[in-house]
Amino acid sequence: MKILIVGSGGREHAIALSISKNPRVEKIYCAPGNAGIASLAECVPIGPMEFDRLSSFALEMGIDFTIIGMDDPLVGGIVDAFEEKGLRVFGPRKNAAILEGSKAFSKDLMKKYNIPTAGYENFDDPEEALAYLRTRASFPIVLKADGLALGKGVLICQNLAEAEEGVREIMQDKKFGTAGNRMVIEEFMTGREVSVLSFVDGKTIRIMSSAQDHKRAQDGDQGLNTGGMGTFSPSPFYTKEIDDICMKTIFQPTVDAMAKEGRPFKGIIFFGLMLTKDGPKVLEYNARFGDPEAQVVLPRMKNDLLTVMEACVDGTLDTIDLAFEDNAAVCVILASDGYPLKYEKGLPITGLEAFTGKTDYFCFHAGTAFKDGRIVTNGGRVLGVTATGSTLKEARQKAYEATNWVTFANKYMRHDIGKAIDEA
Ligand code: AMP
Ligand code: GLY
Repeated sequence: MKILIVGSGGREHAIALSISKNPRVEKIYCAPGNAGIASLAECVPIGPMEFDRLSSFALEMGIDFTIIGMDDPLVGGIVDAFEEKGLRVFGPRKNAAILEGSKAFSKDLMKKYNIPTAGYENFDDPEEALAYLRTRASFPIVLKADGLALGKGVLICQNLAEAEEGVREIMQDKKFGTAGNRMVIEEFMTGREVSVLSFVDGKTIRIMSSAQDHKRAQDGDQGLNTGGMGTFSPSPFYTKEIDDICMKTIFQPTVDAMAKEGRPFKGIIFFGLMLTKDGPKVLEYNARFGDPEAQVVLPRMKNDLLTVMEACVDGTLDTIDLAFEDNAAVCVILASDGYPLKYEKGLPITGLEAFTGKTDYFCFHAGTAFKDGRIVTNGGRVLGVTATGSTLKEARQKAYEATNWVTFANKYMRHDIGKAIDEA
Protein backbone atom coordinates (compact mmCIF):
# COMPACT_ATOMS: atom_id res chain seq x y z
CA MET A 1 0.00 0.00 0.00
CA LYS A 2 0.98 3.59 -0.56
CA ILE A 3 0.24 5.86 2.40
CA LEU A 4 0.07 9.64 2.64
CA ILE A 5 0.34 11.35 6.05
CA VAL A 6 -0.64 15.01 6.34
CA GLY A 7 1.23 16.99 9.00
CA SER A 8 4.73 17.87 10.11
CA GLY A 9 5.02 17.37 13.86
CA GLY A 10 6.21 14.80 16.39
CA ARG A 11 2.74 13.28 16.26
CA GLU A 12 3.05 12.63 12.52
CA HIS A 13 6.55 11.19 13.06
CA ALA A 14 5.12 8.76 15.62
CA ILE A 15 2.26 7.85 13.25
CA ALA A 16 4.73 7.29 10.40
CA LEU A 17 6.88 5.03 12.58
CA SER A 18 3.90 2.85 13.55
CA ILE A 19 2.60 2.71 9.96
CA SER A 20 6.04 1.78 8.62
CA LYS A 21 5.97 -1.47 10.62
CA ASN A 22 3.11 -2.89 8.57
CA PRO A 23 4.49 -5.27 5.89
CA ARG A 24 1.64 -4.28 3.54
CA VAL A 25 3.06 -0.74 3.42
CA GLU A 26 5.28 -0.26 0.40
CA LYS A 27 5.80 3.50 0.52
CA ILE A 28 4.93 6.41 2.81
CA TYR A 29 4.65 10.04 1.73
CA CYS A 30 4.31 12.88 4.20
CA ALA A 31 3.12 16.40 3.40
CA PRO A 32 4.95 18.47 4.38
CA GLY A 33 6.85 16.32 6.93
CA ASN A 34 10.17 17.21 8.58
CA ALA A 35 13.79 16.06 8.72
CA GLY A 36 13.01 13.12 11.01
CA ILE A 37 9.98 11.91 9.12
CA ALA A 38 12.21 11.97 6.03
CA SER A 39 13.97 8.83 7.32
CA LEU A 40 10.67 6.89 6.99
CA ALA A 41 8.77 8.73 4.28
CA GLU A 42 9.24 10.83 1.18
CA CYS A 43 8.42 14.38 2.23
CA VAL A 44 6.33 16.39 -0.22
CA PRO A 45 6.34 20.20 -0.06
CA ILE A 46 2.56 20.73 -0.03
CA GLY A 47 0.93 22.59 2.86
CA PRO A 48 -1.76 20.91 5.02
CA MET A 49 -4.46 23.39 3.93
CA GLU A 50 -3.87 22.90 0.18
CA PHE A 51 -6.69 20.35 -0.18
CA ASP A 52 -6.79 20.45 -3.95
CA ARG A 53 -3.08 19.93 -4.42
CA LEU A 54 -2.98 17.23 -1.74
CA SER A 55 -5.88 15.24 -3.15
CA SER A 56 -4.55 15.60 -6.70
CA PHE A 57 -1.17 14.35 -5.48
CA ALA A 58 -2.88 11.37 -3.84
CA LEU A 59 -4.71 10.52 -7.06
CA GLU A 60 -1.60 10.90 -9.21
CA MET A 61 0.60 8.79 -6.97
CA GLY A 62 -2.04 6.10 -6.46
CA ILE A 63 -2.21 6.62 -2.68
CA ASP A 64 -4.33 3.88 -1.09
CA PHE A 65 -4.85 5.46 2.31
CA THR A 66 -4.36 8.98 3.67
CA ILE A 67 -4.01 9.82 7.36
CA ILE A 68 -4.70 13.36 8.53
CA GLY A 69 -2.69 14.12 11.66
CA MET A 70 -3.50 17.78 12.26
CA ASP A 71 -6.56 19.67 13.46
CA ASP A 72 -6.69 22.62 11.03
CA PRO A 73 -7.18 20.61 7.83
CA LEU A 74 -9.71 18.32 9.56
CA VAL A 75 -11.76 21.25 10.79
CA GLY A 76 -11.44 22.84 7.33
CA GLY A 77 -12.92 19.78 5.59
CA ILE A 78 -9.92 17.94 4.10
CA VAL A 79 -11.60 14.57 4.57
CA ASP A 80 -14.63 15.68 2.53
CA ALA A 81 -12.27 16.98 -0.19
CA PHE A 82 -10.49 13.61 -0.40
CA GLU A 83 -13.73 11.60 -0.31
CA GLU A 84 -15.17 13.69 -3.14
CA LYS A 85 -12.32 12.38 -5.29
CA GLY A 86 -13.03 8.80 -4.19
CA LEU A 87 -9.94 8.58 -1.95
CA ARG A 88 -9.74 6.52 1.25
CA VAL A 89 -8.89 8.80 4.14
CA PHE A 90 -8.68 8.52 7.93
CA GLY A 91 -10.22 11.30 10.00
CA PRO A 92 -13.57 12.94 10.72
CA ARG A 93 -15.49 14.83 8.03
CA LYS A 94 -15.96 18.55 8.46
CA ASN A 95 -19.38 18.17 10.07
CA ALA A 96 -17.85 15.92 12.77
CA ALA A 97 -14.49 17.68 13.22
CA ILE A 98 -16.54 20.60 14.55
CA LEU A 99 -16.34 18.69 17.85
CA GLU A 100 -12.87 20.25 18.10
CA GLY A 101 -13.43 23.20 15.75
CA SER A 102 -16.10 24.93 17.82
CA LYS A 103 -16.04 24.95 21.60
CA ALA A 104 -19.55 26.43 21.61
CA PHE A 105 -20.76 23.46 19.54
CA SER A 106 -19.09 20.93 21.84
CA LYS A 107 -20.47 22.59 24.98
CA ASP A 108 -24.01 22.63 23.56
CA LEU A 109 -23.65 18.98 22.55
CA MET A 110 -22.55 18.01 26.06
CA LYS A 111 -25.40 19.96 27.62
CA LYS A 112 -28.00 18.41 25.29
CA TYR A 113 -26.79 14.86 25.97
CA ASN A 114 -25.98 15.25 29.68
CA ILE A 115 -22.25 14.63 29.26
CA PRO A 116 -20.45 15.96 32.35
CA THR A 117 -18.52 19.18 31.73
CA ALA A 118 -18.04 22.60 33.33
CA GLY A 119 -21.10 24.90 33.46
CA TYR A 120 -20.94 27.60 30.75
CA GLU A 121 -22.56 30.25 28.58
CA ASN A 122 -21.79 31.03 24.91
CA PHE A 123 -21.49 34.63 23.67
CA ASP A 124 -21.44 36.27 20.22
CA ASP A 125 -21.52 39.79 21.60
CA PRO A 126 -18.69 41.20 23.77
CA GLU A 127 -21.10 43.57 25.56
CA GLU A 128 -23.25 40.65 26.66
CA ALA A 129 -20.16 38.73 27.78
CA LEU A 130 -19.05 41.72 29.85
CA ALA A 131 -22.51 42.17 31.36
CA TYR A 132 -22.53 38.49 32.33
CA LEU A 133 -19.10 38.76 33.95
CA ARG A 134 -20.11 41.88 35.91
CA THR A 135 -23.36 40.51 37.27
CA ARG A 136 -23.40 36.72 37.38
CA ALA A 137 -19.86 35.34 37.35
CA SER A 138 -17.75 33.93 40.16
CA PHE A 139 -13.96 33.80 39.99
CA PRO A 140 -11.64 32.27 38.89
CA ILE A 141 -13.45 31.87 35.59
CA VAL A 142 -12.39 30.46 32.21
CA LEU A 143 -12.71 32.26 28.85
CA LYS A 144 -12.34 30.27 25.63
CA ALA A 145 -12.18 31.47 22.05
CA ASP A 146 -14.68 29.34 20.13
CA GLY A 147 -12.41 28.26 17.28
CA LEU A 148 -8.92 26.79 16.84
CA ALA A 149 -6.14 28.87 18.40
CA LEU A 150 -3.10 26.55 18.53
CA GLY A 151 -4.16 25.43 22.01
CA LYS A 152 -3.69 29.00 23.26
CA GLY A 153 -7.25 30.38 23.16
CA VAL A 154 -8.01 29.60 26.80
CA LEU A 155 -7.67 32.25 29.50
CA ILE A 156 -8.04 31.53 33.20
CA CYS A 157 -9.04 34.80 34.87
CA GLN A 158 -8.66 35.34 38.61
CA ASN A 159 -10.88 38.42 38.89
CA LEU A 160 -13.25 40.71 37.00
CA ALA A 161 -10.50 43.01 35.72
CA GLU A 162 -8.60 40.09 34.14
CA ALA A 163 -11.80 38.71 32.65
CA GLU A 164 -12.75 42.08 31.14
CA GLU A 165 -9.29 42.29 29.60
CA GLY A 166 -9.75 38.71 28.32
CA VAL A 167 -13.02 39.53 26.56
CA ARG A 168 -11.30 42.48 24.93
CA GLU A 169 -8.39 40.33 23.73
CA ILE A 170 -10.53 37.50 22.39
CA MET A 171 -13.60 39.27 20.96
CA GLN A 172 -12.50 42.84 20.23
CA ASP A 173 -8.74 42.81 19.55
CA LYS A 174 -9.16 39.36 17.92
CA LYS A 175 -5.91 38.08 19.37
CA PHE A 176 -6.86 34.61 18.10
CA GLY A 177 -8.36 35.86 14.84
CA THR A 178 -11.82 34.70 13.80
CA ALA A 179 -11.59 31.97 16.47
CA GLY A 180 -12.75 34.78 18.77
CA ASN A 181 -15.95 35.68 16.92
CA ARG A 182 -17.70 33.61 19.58
CA MET A 183 -16.61 32.84 23.08
CA VAL A 184 -17.41 30.35 25.82
CA ILE A 185 -17.31 31.49 29.44
CA GLU A 186 -17.10 28.51 31.73
CA GLU A 187 -16.81 27.46 35.32
CA PHE A 188 -13.28 26.87 36.65
CA MET A 189 -12.73 23.24 37.62
CA THR A 190 -10.00 21.75 39.81
CA GLY A 191 -8.51 18.28 39.74
CA ARG A 192 -6.01 16.19 37.84
CA GLU A 193 -5.99 16.37 34.07
CA VAL A 194 -5.77 13.30 31.88
CA SER A 195 -5.76 12.82 28.11
CA VAL A 196 -7.67 9.81 26.84
CA LEU A 197 -7.39 9.06 23.11
CA SER A 198 -9.76 6.75 21.27
CA PHE A 199 -10.46 5.26 17.87
CA VAL A 200 -14.03 5.71 16.61
CA ASP A 201 -15.79 4.26 13.54
CA GLY A 202 -19.05 6.20 13.76
CA LYS A 203 -20.65 3.83 16.30
CA THR A 204 -17.99 1.86 18.16
CA ILE A 205 -15.29 3.41 20.32
CA ARG A 206 -12.03 1.78 21.48
CA ILE A 207 -10.04 3.53 24.19
CA MET A 208 -6.26 3.80 24.13
CA SER A 209 -4.02 3.82 27.19
CA SER A 210 -4.24 7.14 29.08
CA ALA A 211 -1.65 9.91 29.13
CA GLN A 212 -0.94 13.22 30.83
CA ASP A 213 0.42 16.33 29.12
CA HIS A 214 2.28 19.32 30.59
CA LYS A 215 0.91 22.40 28.82
CA ARG A 216 2.81 25.19 30.54
CA ALA A 217 6.22 26.28 29.33
CA GLN A 218 8.06 26.20 32.66
CA ASP A 219 8.70 23.85 35.58
CA GLY A 220 6.00 23.73 38.24
CA ASP A 221 3.32 24.52 35.61
CA GLN A 222 4.46 28.12 35.40
CA GLY A 223 4.67 30.30 32.32
CA LEU A 224 2.61 30.41 29.15
CA ASN A 225 0.48 27.67 27.64
CA THR A 226 2.23 25.72 24.88
CA GLY A 227 1.24 22.90 22.55
CA GLY A 228 2.61 20.55 25.24
CA MET A 229 6.08 20.21 26.82
CA GLY A 230 6.03 16.52 27.68
CA THR A 231 3.83 13.54 28.43
CA PHE A 232 3.71 10.25 30.26
CA SER A 233 1.56 7.17 29.72
CA PRO A 234 -0.29 5.55 31.39
CA SER A 235 -1.65 8.01 33.94
CA PRO A 236 -1.60 6.25 37.34
CA PHE A 237 -4.55 8.46 38.37
CA TYR A 238 -6.76 7.14 35.59
CA THR A 239 -8.00 3.96 37.28
CA LYS A 240 -10.17 1.14 35.95
CA GLU A 241 -13.02 2.51 38.04
CA ILE A 242 -12.72 5.98 36.48
CA ASP A 243 -12.43 4.40 33.03
CA ASP A 244 -15.73 2.54 33.60
CA ILE A 245 -17.45 5.78 34.63
CA CYS A 246 -16.04 7.60 31.58
CA MET A 247 -17.17 4.89 29.20
CA LYS A 248 -20.74 5.11 30.55
CA THR A 249 -21.04 8.88 31.02
CA ILE A 250 -18.63 10.40 28.46
CA PHE A 251 -17.07 8.19 25.76
CA GLN A 252 -19.94 6.18 24.31
CA PRO A 253 -22.46 9.01 24.92
CA THR A 254 -20.28 11.38 22.86
CA VAL A 255 -20.09 8.94 19.93
CA ASP A 256 -23.85 8.27 20.14
CA ALA A 257 -24.62 12.00 20.37
CA MET A 258 -22.62 12.76 17.23
CA ALA A 259 -24.40 9.96 15.35
CA LYS A 260 -27.81 11.22 16.54
CA GLU A 261 -26.95 14.73 15.37
CA GLY A 262 -26.29 13.37 11.87
CA ARG A 263 -22.55 13.93 12.32
CA PRO A 264 -21.11 10.40 12.68
CA PHE A 265 -17.54 10.68 13.89
CA LYS A 266 -14.83 8.49 12.34
CA GLY A 267 -11.25 8.96 13.43
CA ILE A 268 -9.62 9.85 16.71
CA ILE A 269 -11.49 11.49 19.57
CA PHE A 270 -9.14 12.90 22.17
CA PHE A 271 -10.95 13.49 25.46
CA GLY A 272 -9.28 16.12 27.62
CA LEU A 273 -10.63 15.24 31.06
CA MET A 274 -10.50 16.77 34.51
CA LEU A 275 -10.84 14.28 37.36
CA THR A 276 -12.87 16.44 39.74
CA LYS A 277 -14.18 15.50 43.17
CA ASP A 278 -17.60 15.14 41.54
CA GLY A 279 -16.25 12.70 38.98
CA PRO A 280 -14.57 12.97 35.57
CA LYS A 281 -15.65 15.92 33.40
CA VAL A 282 -14.76 16.96 29.85
CA LEU A 283 -12.37 19.91 29.50
CA GLU A 284 -12.25 19.73 25.73
CA TYR A 285 -12.51 17.43 22.74
CA ASN A 286 -9.91 17.14 19.99
CA ALA A 287 -10.50 15.39 16.68
CA ARG A 288 -6.99 13.92 16.26
CA PHE A 289 -4.10 12.42 18.20
CA GLY A 290 -2.55 14.67 20.85
CA ASP A 291 0.94 15.97 20.33
CA PRO A 292 2.95 14.87 22.35
CA GLU A 293 0.42 12.30 23.60
CA ALA A 294 0.88 10.21 20.42
CA GLN A 295 4.61 9.98 21.19
CA VAL A 296 3.94 8.02 24.41
CA VAL A 297 0.77 6.15 23.48
CA LEU A 298 1.66 4.77 20.02
CA PRO A 299 5.01 3.22 21.04
CA ARG A 300 3.06 1.21 23.67
CA MET A 301 0.31 0.00 21.34
CA LYS A 302 0.52 -3.67 20.33
CA ASN A 303 -2.05 -3.45 17.50
CA ASP A 304 -1.05 -2.61 13.98
CA LEU A 305 -2.03 1.06 13.60
CA LEU A 306 -2.97 0.86 9.92
CA THR A 307 -5.34 -2.08 10.53
CA VAL A 308 -7.12 -0.18 13.32
CA MET A 309 -7.41 2.95 11.18
CA GLU A 310 -8.84 0.97 8.27
CA ALA A 311 -11.43 -0.53 10.64
CA CYS A 312 -12.47 3.00 11.64
CA VAL A 313 -12.99 3.98 8.01
CA ASP A 314 -14.81 0.71 7.21
CA GLY A 315 -17.04 0.78 10.31
CA THR A 316 -15.70 -2.55 11.60
CA LEU A 317 -13.99 -1.40 14.77
CA ASP A 318 -16.24 -3.75 16.79
CA THR A 319 -14.08 -6.63 15.50
CA ILE A 320 -10.93 -5.15 17.04
CA ASP A 321 -9.66 -5.14 20.62
CA LEU A 322 -6.85 -2.79 21.47
CA ALA A 323 -3.87 -4.01 23.49
CA PHE A 324 -1.05 -2.04 25.08
CA GLU A 325 2.29 -3.17 26.45
CA ASP A 326 2.35 -3.54 30.21
CA ASN A 327 4.99 -0.83 30.42
CA ALA A 328 5.22 2.95 30.57
CA ALA A 329 6.56 5.76 28.40
CA VAL A 330 7.72 9.32 29.03
CA CYS A 331 8.29 12.00 26.36
CA VAL A 332 10.30 15.15 27.08
CA ILE A 333 10.04 17.94 24.51
CA LEU A 334 13.28 19.66 23.54
CA ALA A 335 12.16 23.15 22.56
CA SER A 336 13.83 26.33 21.33
CA ASP A 337 14.47 28.69 24.25
CA GLY A 338 11.82 31.41 24.10
CA TYR A 339 8.99 29.16 22.86
CA PRO A 340 6.02 29.83 22.72
CA LEU A 341 6.88 33.47 21.98
CA LYS A 342 10.11 34.34 20.15
CA TYR A 343 12.95 31.97 19.36
CA GLU A 344 15.78 31.43 16.91
CA LYS A 345 15.61 28.80 14.17
CA GLY A 346 18.10 27.17 11.79
CA LEU A 347 20.53 25.98 14.49
CA PRO A 348 22.39 22.70 13.82
CA ILE A 349 21.35 19.65 15.88
CA THR A 350 23.94 17.04 16.82
CA GLY A 351 23.78 13.63 18.50
CA LEU A 352 20.67 12.28 16.77
CA GLU A 353 22.49 9.10 15.71
CA ALA A 354 22.54 7.93 19.35
CA PHE A 355 18.93 6.79 18.92
CA THR A 356 19.60 4.57 15.90
CA GLY A 357 18.83 0.90 16.43
CA LYS A 358 17.35 1.33 19.92
CA THR A 359 13.91 -0.13 20.57
CA ASP A 360 13.20 1.60 23.88
CA TYR A 361 14.34 5.12 22.99
CA PHE A 362 12.76 7.30 20.30
CA CYS A 363 13.59 10.75 19.02
CA PHE A 364 10.48 12.14 17.31
CA HIS A 365 11.11 15.25 15.23
CA ALA A 366 8.70 18.17 15.54
CA GLY A 367 10.36 21.35 14.26
CA THR A 368 13.37 20.23 12.20
CA ALA A 369 14.53 20.79 8.63
CA PHE A 370 17.52 20.11 6.37
CA LYS A 371 19.92 22.96 5.65
CA ASP A 372 23.13 22.42 3.67
CA GLY A 373 22.83 18.69 4.30
CA ARG A 374 22.53 19.06 8.07
CA ILE A 375 19.55 18.77 10.35
CA VAL A 376 18.67 22.11 11.96
CA THR A 377 15.99 23.46 14.30
CA ASN A 378 12.91 24.77 12.54
CA GLY A 379 10.26 25.42 15.19
CA GLY A 380 9.36 26.04 18.82
CA ARG A 381 9.04 22.41 19.69
CA VAL A 382 12.06 20.76 18.05
CA LEU A 383 12.25 17.14 19.22
CA GLY A 384 10.31 14.76 21.46
CA VAL A 385 12.58 12.36 23.31
CA THR A 386 10.61 9.29 24.37
CA ALA A 387 11.77 6.32 26.41
CA THR A 388 9.85 3.25 27.49
CA GLY A 389 10.49 1.36 30.70
CA SER A 390 8.87 -1.24 32.91
CA THR A 391 7.65 1.55 35.23
CA LEU A 392 6.92 5.25 34.83
CA LYS A 393 9.90 6.08 37.01
CA GLU A 394 12.24 4.02 34.89
CA ALA A 395 10.84 5.51 31.68
CA ARG A 396 11.29 9.02 33.07
CA GLN A 397 14.86 8.36 34.17
CA LYS A 398 15.69 6.94 30.72
CA ALA A 399 13.96 9.78 28.83
CA TYR A 400 15.88 12.45 30.77
CA GLU A 401 19.14 10.54 30.26
CA ALA A 402 18.48 10.55 26.50
CA THR A 403 17.79 14.29 26.44
CA ASN A 404 21.55 14.67 27.02
CA TRP A 405 22.40 12.81 23.81
CA VAL A 406 21.16 15.65 21.62
CA THR A 407 22.58 19.16 21.43
CA PHE A 408 21.54 22.44 19.81
CA ALA A 409 22.42 25.98 20.81
CA ASN A 410 19.12 27.12 22.31
CA LYS A 411 17.90 23.78 23.67
CA TYR A 412 15.25 24.20 26.36
CA MET A 413 13.20 21.65 28.28
CA ARG A 414 11.15 21.26 31.42
CA HIS A 415 12.84 19.19 34.10
CA ASP A 416 9.69 18.01 35.88
CA ILE A 417 7.86 16.01 33.21
CA GLY A 418 6.19 13.14 35.06
CA LYS A 419 6.84 14.60 38.51
CA ALA A 420 3.19 13.81 39.36
CA ILE A 421 4.13 10.12 39.21
CA ASP A 422 5.79 10.50 42.60
CA GLU A 423 2.43 11.39 44.13
CA ALA A 424 0.65 8.32 42.77
P1 AMP B 1 -8.10 23.41 26.54
O1 AMP B 1 -7.43 23.99 25.34
O2 AMP B 1 -9.59 23.53 26.56
O3 AMP B 1 -7.60 22.04 26.91
O4 AMP B 1 -7.59 24.31 27.75
C1 AMP B 1 -6.22 24.45 28.01
C2 AMP B 1 -5.97 24.25 29.47
O5 AMP B 1 -6.72 25.20 30.24
C3 AMP B 1 -6.44 22.89 29.95
O6 AMP B 1 -5.49 21.90 29.72
C4 AMP B 1 -6.68 23.17 31.42
O7 AMP B 1 -5.46 23.12 32.14
C5 AMP B 1 -7.17 24.60 31.42
N1 AMP B 1 -8.63 24.64 31.46
C6 AMP B 1 -9.49 24.63 30.42
N2 AMP B 1 -10.76 24.67 30.84
C7 AMP B 1 -10.74 24.70 32.19
C8 AMP B 1 -11.73 24.74 33.21
N3 AMP B 1 -13.02 24.79 32.93
N4 AMP B 1 -11.32 24.75 34.49
C9 AMP B 1 -10.00 24.73 34.79
N5 AMP B 1 -9.01 24.70 33.88
C10 AMP B 1 -9.37 24.68 32.59
N1 GLY C 1 -1.07 17.94 23.69
C1 GLY C 1 -2.34 18.55 23.56
C2 GLY C 1 -2.84 18.61 22.20
O1 GLY C 1 -2.35 17.96 21.29
O2 GLY C 1 -3.81 19.32 21.98
